Amino acid sequence: MSEHNGKLYIETVGCQMNMLDSELVVAALRKDGYELTNDPRAADTLLFNTCSVREHAEHKIYSSLGRLKYAKRKDPQKVIGVMGCMAQKDQDLIFERAPHVDIVVGTGQLAEIPRLIAETRTAEARQQQKAVSLGRRDGSVAEVSGSFQSYDPLRDPEMRPTPFQAFVRIMIGCDKFCTYCVVPATRGPEQSRKPSEILSEVRVLADQGVKEVCLLGQTVNSYKHTEDGRLHRLSDLMYQIDQVPGIERIRFVTSYPRDMTDDLLHAVRDLDKAVKYLHVPLQHGCNDQLRLMKRGYTVEEYREMMGRINETIPGCSVSSDFIVGFSGETEASHQLSLDAIREHRFKNSFIFKYSERGGTKAASLLPDDIPEDVKKRRNNEMLDLQNAISEEDNAEFIGRRVSVLVEGLSKSAVKQQARASAEDRSFSSGETLAVQLMGRSECDRIVVFDGNPRLSGTTAEIEVRDCTGTTLIGEIVTREVQHGSSSLLPIVS
Ligand code: SAH
Ligand code: SF4
Ligand code: F3S
Repeated sequence: MSEHNGKLYIETVGCQMNMLDSELVVAALRKDGYELTNDPRAADTLLFNTCSVREHAEHKIYSSLGRLKYAKRKDPQKVIGVMGCMAQKDQDLIFERAPHVDIVVGTGQLAEIPRLIAETRTAEARQQQKAVSLGRRDGSVAEVSGSFQSYDPLRDPEMRPTPFQAFVRIMIGCDKFCTYCVVPATRGPEQSRKPSEILSEVRVLADQGVKEVCLLGQTVNSYKHTEDGRLHRLSDLMYQIDQVPGIERIRFVTSYPRDMTDDLLHAVRDLDKAVKYLHVPLQHGCNDQLRLMKRGYTVEEYREMMGRINETIPGCSVSSDFIVGFSGETEASHQLSLDAIREHRFKNSFIFKYSERGGTKAASLLPDDIPEDVKKRRNNEMLDLQNAISEEDNAEFIGRRVSVLVEGLSKSAVKQQARASAEDRSFSSGETLAVQLMGRSECDRIVVFDGNPRLSGTTAEIEVRDCTGTTLIGEIVTREVQHGSSSLLPIVS
């Protein structure tokens, strides 16, 4: 094979972990001379960062791969790689289902990607290559853990989706083994990164202009690491990150209900930089279902936790995930999930139809016995209820002022810009004209308002005038323009 044309295409599905992984892999490949393209036809290196959490996410990737079959036949120089959770889970099955794939790289082996691409490209004859970690039962805990490497090289400033926000991984893997979930298999054993490493990463990011860090972990509040004889919890990390000059906001996702300890709630309450928002999925409102899911808490324990959150951090917003149509879910148990949404009034909830996943406890022990049309109806009922509650609670903000970290153009402004450039009209970059901008409040609500795009990266005071279930709509009251702030226009999608 020959030299690459320098054009890299990457498609990413799944959670924030995957977004971060893609960012880091692209950064590494840039060092090898690659540039990103949005056009898969123009690229000679194509990567798919995959998710296995539901079947739908896998289908999406297999159909994208299917579309490349003829392109690869026409141009065998193209290198096609599959990385991430589905790569770790399916391994050789990917080569069977999509024989034109050259490389399969699991979540714990991402550092290998540049080498594998280069080798594939220079090999005399075509050779499929695979780098995956051990299965959870394929060795001792230490061996399996060792085979999943956290991939956290330092980043270039221009690599981030926005210059002033960054994800920071604080742990990898998961040991909770909820019966429906593939993540413990695809991401391996729970391992917390060293606090000193995390802190130096945050300092570098702050020097590069980052103002908001979002700490990532599958169960981020289970973080614990002993360094220099001292146990560090997430709350300790928060106090340390709070000291880093330049950082203005600290957030973390996703929390596990059982590990929502008071020390963490106190840190969120006491640190001005801590965003007053917690994502703590309940998953179901019925104890029988929670037990079958092996979530490790009851509805009553979750209620106790919510009581502590509301008491400790008044006004804190909480969001949740729910699964509908899990094994044996009766109409009565479904009603209990609706009751839980009414009771806790989540800021928003991500609601998923149960999708049986091979290799999980639920797949081997529990029938997937709720018909698809019932799952769909229950899903819609929950969505409707949650949307109504979100809208009611958002309406409480009308007339109030919120402090917003401006992220960039709103979705509709991005669309308008795309239309204008397609029609070859010049789109005002906002030198004088205001466009619709978006950002998030301190309680993680999306806020849109008209303003100069140069405000991106600054904190603006917004008076809320109107709302929908997902968005507060407002006007700028005052603004804190920071000189020397980025004039880049980050596109928020
Ligand atoms: N670590 C996070 C979430 C990981 S997956 C946590 O524990 O909260 C994100 C969400 O996908 C989960 O919260 C769950 O609601 C949903 N999910 C996971 N496995 C699923 C499955 N097999 N079918 C449907 N939804 C699933
Ligand atoms: Fe999956 Fe449960 Fe772990 Fe979340 S806590 S990643 S749902 S096993
Ligand atoms: Fe999906 Fe893997 Fe994240 S399965 S949700 S990409 S951890």
